[in-house]
Amino acid sequence: MFGEQKVCFSGVQPSGNLTIGNYLGAIKNFAEYSEKYKTFYCVVDEHAITVRQNPADLRRRTYETLALYMACGLDPEKNTLYVQSMVHEHAELAWLLNCFTMFGELSRMTQFKDKSAKHADNINAGLFTYPVLMAADILLFQTDVVPVGIDQKQHVELCRDIANRINQIYPDMFTVPEPMMAKSGKKIMSLAEPTKKMSKSDENANAVVYILDDKDTIIRKFKRAVTDSEAEIRFSEDKPGVSNLMTIYSCFTGKNYDEIEREFAGKGYGDFKLAVGEATADSLAPVQARFAELMADKAALEAQMKRGAEEASYYARRTLSKFQKKLGFVQIR
Ligand code: TYM
Repeated sequence: MFGEQKVCFSGVQPSGNLTIGNYLGAIKNFAEYSEKYKTFYCVVDEHAITVRQNPADLRRRTYETLALYMACGLDPEKNTLYVQSMVHEHAELAWLLNCFTMFGELSRMTQFKDKSAKHADNINAGLFTYPVLMAADILLFQTDVVPVGIDQKQHVELCRDIANRINQIYPDMFTVPEPMMAKSGKKIMSLAEPTKKMSKSDENANAVVYILDDKDTIIRKFKRAVTDSEAEIRFSEDKPGVSNLMTIYSCFTGKNYDEIEREFAGKGYGDFKLAVGEATADSLAPVQARFAELMADKAALEAQMKRGAEEASYYARRTLSKFQKKLGFVQIR
C-alpha cells in the first residue's frame, strides 16, 4: 500500500519465448488489476541470469517481453512497465532481505530443487537466493497483491514469511502481499506430458504453444497433443491431457467445462483439438499484430523503459531508504 492506494506487482522473466501458460496464468490477468490498483509490471532480467543466457537473446527478449506486456493490453499510462536491472533498488533490497532469510527456507523451494537438478553444472548462489530477489521485487513497492501462476505461489509465501519476520522486528516496515491466481489457467500443462507444467524452457517445442506461434503451428501442435485412449471430452483428473485442453479452451472462449462437454458430446478428439487450436490462434491474433507494431519501434520501447524505470525508482527509493534507516544505516542527504 502506498498512501491510500493498493499495489499490485508482478514480473515475467525474459528467459525464453513466452508461452500460453505465461499468458493465461499471468499476463492476460494483469490488465484487470490496473483499474483498482497501482500496478507495477516488471521484466525481470536479473532473475533470468540465474541460468546462462546468450546476451543477444536476453537483450532481444527483454524488448519482446515489454512489447508483449503492452500487446496484451497493458496501457503504459495506467501501469508502470519497466525492466528490473534499470532500477538498482531491486538488487540492493535483495541483499538486505538475504540477511533475514534462512538457508533452510531456501533449500525447501521446489523450483530450486528442480532447477538445480536440471542445471547440475551451474548450481550458483543466485539460483539459490532467487526467491529473495523476487521478495525484494514485491516488497519494494509495498505490494498488496501478486498475480502469478501456481508455480510461483511458494515463492510469494516465502516473501510473506520474510515480510512478517521483518515486521516483528521493525513494525510496519512492509506490506504483506497475497498471491492471486486465476481460477482456471493457473497451471497450464505441457501438450506432450500433460502431468508436467508447460514451460518456456522445454526443449520439445511441440509440448509448448508460444504466444507468437502462427495459426498453422498452433493447430498442428494441438493436433499432436497427448490425450488418452478414450474418445470422450470430459474434465477429469484421470484425463490430464483432455482436461488441460479443456482448460485452455475455457480460458480462450469463456465457456465452462459443462458447456464444453455438451458442445463436444459425441464428437471425437480430432474435432475438439481443432476447435482448441482455432480458439487459441484467433485469440492470440490481435496480440501478435499489436506486438509486431510495437517491436517495429525500438526507440518507443526504450522511451517506455526509461519512463517506467523513473516511475518505479521513485517508489523503490522510498521503501529502500525507509528500511535502511530502520536497520541503522547512516543517511546523509
Ligand atoms: P516466469 O517468468 O517463469 O513466469 C511468468 C508468469 O507465468 C506463470 N506461468 C504459468 N502459469 C500457468 N501455467 C503455466 N504453465 C505457467 N508457466 C508460467 C508464472 O507463474 C508467472 O506468474 N519468478 C517469476 C518471475 C518473478 C516474479 C517476481 C513474479 C520475478 N519476480 C515478483 C511475481 C512477482 C518467474 O520465474 O516467472
